[in-house]
This record gives sequence, structure tokens and C-alpha cells, in this order.
Amino acid sequence: MSKQQPHEFISPVWRDGIFKGRVAFVTGGAGDICSAQTRALVYLGADACIIGRNVEKTEAAAIDIAKVRKGARVIGIGNVDVRNFETLKKAADRCVAELGSIDFVIAGAAGNFVSPLAGLSPNAFKTVIDIDTLGTFNTMKATIDHLVESAAAHVSPNPENSPPGGRFLAVSATFHYTGLPLQAHLSAAKAGVDSIVNSVALEYGPRGVMANVIAPGPIEGTEGMERLASADAVKEERESAAKMRLRPGIRGGSPGIPSGRWGTVRDIADATVFLFSAAADNVNGHVLVVDGGAWRRQGGSLGVGLDPGMQYPNFLLSGDVVFNVK
Ligand code: HXC
Repeated sequence: MSKQQPHEFISPVWRDGIFKGRVAFVTGGAGDICSAQTRALVYLGADACIIGRNVEKTEAAAIDIAKVRKGARVIGIGNVDVRNFETLKKAADRCVAELGSIDFVIAGAAGNFVSPLAGLSPNAFKTVIDIDTLGTFNTMKATIDHLVESAAAHVSPNPENSPPGGRFLAVSATFHYTGLPLQAHLSAAKAGVDSIVNSVALEYGPRGVMANVIAPGPIEGTEGMERLASADAVKEERESAAKMRLRPGIRGGSPGIPSGRWGTVRDIADATVFLFSAAADNVNGHVLVVDGGAWRRQGGSLGVGLDPGMQYPNFLLSGDVVFNVK
């Protein structure tokens, strides 16, 4: 990603420096989606602290993201599990000590695997709830005072049109709107994520903190989607797109998605930039679905149909656990 030109990872509509002097704190920041979100913020002037479990992966991602802008300060803090409030709080304190503030937060750490109910132990269910839902709560609790401070210091919009502060964003999903086979755990976890954010939006809105959610649809090129690509129905869809001389990501390349294309990490980065920009100053307690209209057409699926008349991918039918996004 670091070799990409700016227009490849962010829309050219954004103005340089709109996040200058602001600091983003991002859990799951080494993952495909969250690193793209962070890269966009850093490109537009922010500094960032990315948090992850794996030390090497997190530190390498920080170095890579920092390359996007000369002088960018990006810290990678590994060995932090969002399930553990204390380690997260320490990471937030370190971020403020080294970078000066926390103005934007992305709660992006997530855990998932495909499993039928029969194969889902209580601990497996709890594990995903703990990473996604408790993790979002912990992230919010560890950073909320900094966000209140930031919101008070950077009231937006202001006459100087300087960057805003005090923005919280959780990365959710669309699966729980309809339910999805083999995803009872993730559906429950993401419903919890949306609910926490909506409640906190009401509680902290009067203090200037805007809390929102982005719900990505199927995103091409991510680790999760790459694993899913081995599912037969996904393969077939890609092959049929190739026959049409189209490729995923190009409009028309994915007939199952109303917009006609797979989602990209850039889509999510652009939506994030909007929600953290001064343009979204009064957007609070909102779930921004970025999926090309996919869930309205076919439920919160993975870009393949869930209608009775449509073909299910093997991983949804087999009853076997066929992938574990680790
Ligand atoms: C059934 C499973 C399982 C599987 C683990 N478990 N994998 N059960 N099917 N495939 C069970 C274990 O048996 C255990 O229960 C419990 O879950 C905890 O497992 P651990 O391996 O000890 O957990 P841990 O090491 O904490 O790892 C958490 C994880 C792992 C969720 C299992 O996959 C992970 O860390 N993932 C992080 C990255 C990730 O998943 N990213 C994807 C996000 S995508 P027992 O009862 O045996 O003790 C996303 C949006 C959806 O969230 C996008 C769709 C592609």
C-alpha cells in the first residue's frame, strides 16, 4: 500500500492538511481496513497511534503508514488486547504522552470465524463478543476523557476552519440487520457495538464528542475476503466477472452488489475522512453503511445471495468450519 499514489487510497476530493495537529488512536490498526483508514488520516495531516496484539505486525504497519507523509508521527503499540482494559488504558496514556492528545478514535479491532451454532462453544461465542463488543466499550472508556478534552479545545466549525476534534468511530458490519447463517456470534457482537455507540452518542454529544459507526460491506483484497475467496460461489462470481472482461472493484464486476462493484478499503477510508472532518460536525449516533447497497438486496452477506432462489457458497451450507480469520 505504501507505494500507492494518493488517489489510489483516498479520493482526490479531500484538501491537504485537514487533520493537521490532530492525533488518531486506532485499535486493529494493522489490519487491512483500519490501516487504510489510518493512512488516509495521516496523509491528510494527522499523527496516529495504532494498537494491536502482535508486536511485529503492529510496529511494521506503523512504519509503513508513516511513509505516506513526510514528518508524520505514527506509533505502533503491540501486545495490547482490547479485551484487557488496563493494557488499552496504558496504550492511550502512552499515545497522549508521546503525541500530545487523542482527537480521533477508531475502534476497529475485531475477531471472527465461520461456525454453525452446533460448533460454537460458549467460550467461542464469548470470545467474539469480548473482542468486538467489550473491546469497543474498553476502547471508548480508555479514550473518552481525551475526546471530551479534544472536543472542547477544537470546536468545529470555527472561523479559522481548523481541524475538529473529539470524534469516535466504531467499525461494525451489516450481518446483524438480517442475521447471517454461521455468524450468530458476530451478529450479536456487532449489534452490541452499534448499541454502545448510539447510547454514548447521546450521552457525550452535549460534550461535543460525535460518536458514529461505519458498517463496511464485502471488501475486496482484505485478509478476511481472501480467505472467503476460496468459497465456491465467490470463485464463480469472480470467474463470471472475468468472462465479462470485468474485474472485481470495477463497476459491473459484481452483479450481486447493487452498485456493481466490490467494496474497497478506500471506500472505508473516504467515509472515515468524512466523519472526522468538519463537514460532519453535526453527524452523531449515525451508522454509515458503505456496501454499495449490498445488504438491502441480499442481507448482510458476503457479496453472495442469501435468497432461497440464489446459490449459497459452500461455507454457508457445509456446516463445517472452513475458515478462521486469524
Ligand atoms: C468454532 C472457534 C473457531 C472456529 C476459535 N474458536 N476458532 N470455534 N470455529 N473457527 C473457539 C475456540 O475453540 C475457543 O473456544 C474460542 O473460540 C477462543 O479461541 P482462541 O483461539 O483461544 O481465541 P483467540 O486466540 O483469542 O483468537 C480469537 C479468534 C481469532 C477470534 C478466534 O480468530 C482472532 O484472533 N481473530 C482476529 C482477527 C479476525 O478475526 N479478524 C476478522 C475480523 S472480520 P473453546 O470452547 O474451545 O475454548 C469481521 C467482520 C466480518 O469482524 C467480515 C467477514 C469476513
